[in-house]
Amino acid sequence: MQRQLSLDILVDDEERRRSLCDDVRAGLSSPKKYIPPAWFYDEAGSRLFDEITRLPEYYPTRAERAILTRHASDIAAATRADTLVEIGSGTSDKTRLLLDAMAAAGHLERIILFDISREVLADAAEHLNLLYDVDVHAVVGDFRHHLGNVPAVGRQLWAFLGGTIGNLLPAGRRQLLECCRRQMGRDGRLLLGTDLVKDVGRLLAAYDDASGITAAFDRNVLAVINRELHASFDPELFDHRAVWDADERWIEMRLRARRPHTVVVEDLDLVVSFRAGEEILTEISAKFTPSQVAGELVGAGLAPRAVWYDDDDDFQLTLARPLPLVQGDLGPRPES
Ligand code: AVJ
Repeated sequence: MQRQLSLDILVDDEERRRSLCDDVRAGLSSPKKYIPPAWFYDEAGSRLFDEITRLPEYYPTRAERAILTRHASDIAAATRADTLVEIGSGTSDKTRLLLDAMAAAGHLERIILFDISREVLADAAEHLNLLYDVDVHAVVGDFRHHLGNVPAVGRQLWAFLGGTIGNLLPAGRRQLLECCRRQMGRDGRLLLGTDLVKDVGRLLAAYDDASGITAAFDRNVLAVINRELHASFDPELFDHRAVWDADERWIEMRLRARRPHTVVVEDLDLVVSFRAGEEILTEISAKFTPSQVAGELVGAGLAPRAVWYDDDDDFQLTLARPLPLVQGDLGPRPES
């Protein structure tokens, strides 16, 4: 039987736009300006991110792929999941290692993809539907707000890869992990990718590469706001910077105004002025220690069951299961 490609767009354009408006208004009105990294990923931004993953300086993608290449079958065996839920799935490139292992174990029934970028998501969903001949559901949304739209079907393995959890502040990470725990059900499992603390020089190079791809990726968020909200940013008036915050243990990406100027965001009725050297924080990318990963999981009601590393200990994959917090708080799932 030919399986279905259901591109259920469970979060619509209007809701997405509302998130963008809220984020840009709050971020550009703040005394310390910021734009959440979710908005990097339009078509151009997703393409630039793909280029980043192939840069010599950007090790996380290669490190995570090495772990998956070696351990995907262990992961599939440990979970016996029939449903892969990938959050922030992007092109789902590395995910295929996991899907191959699940298919080989004979369990794979369906794939649920969740991402902010509708175009990339639609392509990935179609591609996986052809490759695996299973149902593919695509959910367009922002994982900070819309994870409740992930359908509760099957025995689920939630994959949150790439170190993307590091883009959230500690409170946001906690919220997201709690939400995963609630949504995945009692038999659900979480596979979490986290980048690890390492030599600062390597970290800075990974976020400010010699060929300027990361700088172009960073500035692209201004082009997104220009297009979607009719703003007047000149991306060339901003320099890209990567800064290591040793206390917080995260990389900050910032766009720094070269000279004083004013930007109009028409759709928000907003005028934003920049001083020379004033910065917009566009991304934090937190780096973890293994004990910190375990602590944050447990703090969100998830018990780490297994961890894997690449040969250089640059990156960590953790498999976790939900802990019952109080008797009966994790009910049986509809299909289990
Ligand atoms: C996609 C979130 C994993 O934080 O390393 C890459 C995004 N930013 N270069 C990261 C990113 C700059 C990336 N994640």
